[in-house]
Amino acid sequence: MTMNLANEFGWGKLAALAVLATMQIGCGTEEPSETNPSISGIGETAAVTTGALHADCDHGAAPPAHVGPFTDVTGDAIGASSTVSANPIALHTSNPFFEDFGTNERTCGTCHQENLGWTITPDFARSRRHDDPLFVFDGSDCLAAGVPNNQPRANSTEMLSKALVRIELGIPSTADFLLVSAEDRLGCATPPSAALLRMYRRPLPVSNTAFLSTLMWDGRENVNPPNNTPAAMVANLKHQSNDATLIHAQGAADLPDAAQSSIVGFETGIFNAQKRIGPLDLDADGAHGGADYLLSTVLPSFSIGINDVFATTFSSTIFTLYAPWEPGAHRRAPNARAAAIGRGEALFNTRTFAIDNVRGINSADPAVHDPIAGTFNGFCGTCHDTPNVGNHSVSLPIDIGITAASPVGGLDITNLPTYTFQEISTGKTIQVTDPGRGLISGKYKDLGKTKGPILRGLATRAPYFHNGSAKDLKAVVDFYNTRFNIGFTGQEESDLVAFLSAL
Ligand code: HEC
Ligand code: HEC
Repeated sequence: MTMNLANEFGWGKLAALAVLATMQIGCGTEEPSETNPSISGIGETAAVTTGALHADCDHGAAPPAHVGPFTDVTGDAIGASSTVSANPIALHTSNPFFEDFGTNERTCGTCHQENLGWTITPDFARSRRHDDPLFVFDGSDCLAAGVPNNQPRANSTEMLSKALVRIELGIPSTADFLLVSAEDRLGCATPPSAALLRMYRRPLPVSNTAFLSTLMWDGRENVNPPNNTPAAMVANLKHQSNDATLIHAQGAADLPDAAQSSIVGFETGIFNAQKRIGPLDLDADGAHGGADYLLSTVLPSFSIGINDVFATTFSSTIFTLYAPWEPGAHRRAPNARAAAIGRGEALFNTRTFAIDNVRGINSADPAVHDPIAGTFNGFCGTCHDTPNVGNHSVSLPIDIGITAASPVGGLDITNLPTYTFQEISTGKTIQVTDPGRGLISGKYKDLGKTKGPILRGLATRAPYFHNGSAKDLKAVVDFYNTRFNIGFTGQEESDLVAFLSAL
């Protein structure tokens, strides 16, 4: 499938228009639209652009509308990240994404915040008042829908510690496995059962969704098989927006089709990335960090399945954003931090290590017929293969050990439930804290599998992995170092962390 997403959606054209517009802009008499309170996100950029180019106006000309790209910059602990769109970025209820369509006062923005990489963090949860809608129902460890949460400190420990949201699913009736036992460390009044398993997961970012090849950690919103075209992904996202309204916002009715389309247009139109670390501009000195490059250059060349790891054309050089700062480049990195980022990018692209027993790629159990037999030398990009984005470019649920009941590599899974499943035909068992894909496909071989997520805008949105088990990027790298026996030196670890922070 090589259909071009940008052209399919007309974004290629929009981006081109945007370029034209920045060259011609500035002859209007209209107020710049940042004065419209319903539209934010164009403040600085729009003002600067219109101001700077006003000089050559033919005053008889029709007033031009401001055409993107529109940029919003938000500060974070290490610098700033940016959200960019070809369309105005409306952060107000004029945008259905921020409109209350349910019954519990939540909007999509309750769990998907711009300044937090379009997800939420534990600090954010802890900053909320006790009566914030964030804590109702699935923002609590156990409470059923409709039960008020008077004490988030006692009832929302997963939300407050790791910004995890409770997901409830049952085992499909056609499943080839059984639930043998469940250990509920949160001590919910109703114990988990085959009909109702509780998982605790991090909200995924809603930015950069134009690059998705699968929706949700377990792919459960891939409802338009074979799900490998941009149109199918848009239909999946629409379906997801309705489910989110009915479940997270406890909606009483379906989300109207126009609102679904508008939400999906918004999500697939926004791009988010780290823009600055301290004084270091990540989009200068030859580098292409920040979100502008995602919209202008990465999107037009993206297609689902691009650089597929199983294709002969696969290249492990996934990230080229900081190529001029990499060791041996013609240019010199502007400072020590930039040089570390460059070294980290090179490690991500070139460091090989033995990939062993990853269920979904090369399971140790030959009976499951995974694509590869036995251990092989791979890269970070073996699983994060979409160029300059980092998610898996096709839908490929895998188990790298994050869902394990006793994970290696120092992951913190305190208080997560543990489930033991048994394959009916063989009697084999597996213990996981999250059954992942298995609850959707009903297949034993898929238990514990999750997707390879997008690796942009990481620095603002710790903790990492679907269950928040890595408290920071160093913990992520530590996990990989142990799980795959990579042998990173202390210097290499910190270079890789510097690079991941710059995404
Ligand atoms: C209570 C918090 C909460 C609210 C409210 C919420 N979400 Fe989410 N969102 C999540 C969680 C948690 C996940 C990941 C769940 C999973 O994968 O099982 C998620 C995942 C997503 C994804 C998947 C992205 C990807 O990479 O696959 C999209 C898109 C999304 N949400 C959009 C929305 C929209 C649209 C709304 C409003 C209609 C919304 N969300 C409301 C918590 C929330
Ligand atoms: C064998 C496949 C595979 C390899 C190799 C791999 N990853 Fe991952 N990566 C995944 C999967 C799958 C996830 C999501 C797991 C989960 O949360 O359940 C993930 C998650 C991540 C995350 C967390 C993202 C988030 O939103 O929480 C980061 C960061 C990351 N990987 C970086 C790396 C780096 C750096 C390397 C190389 C050292 C690497 N990965 C190698 C498959 C892989």
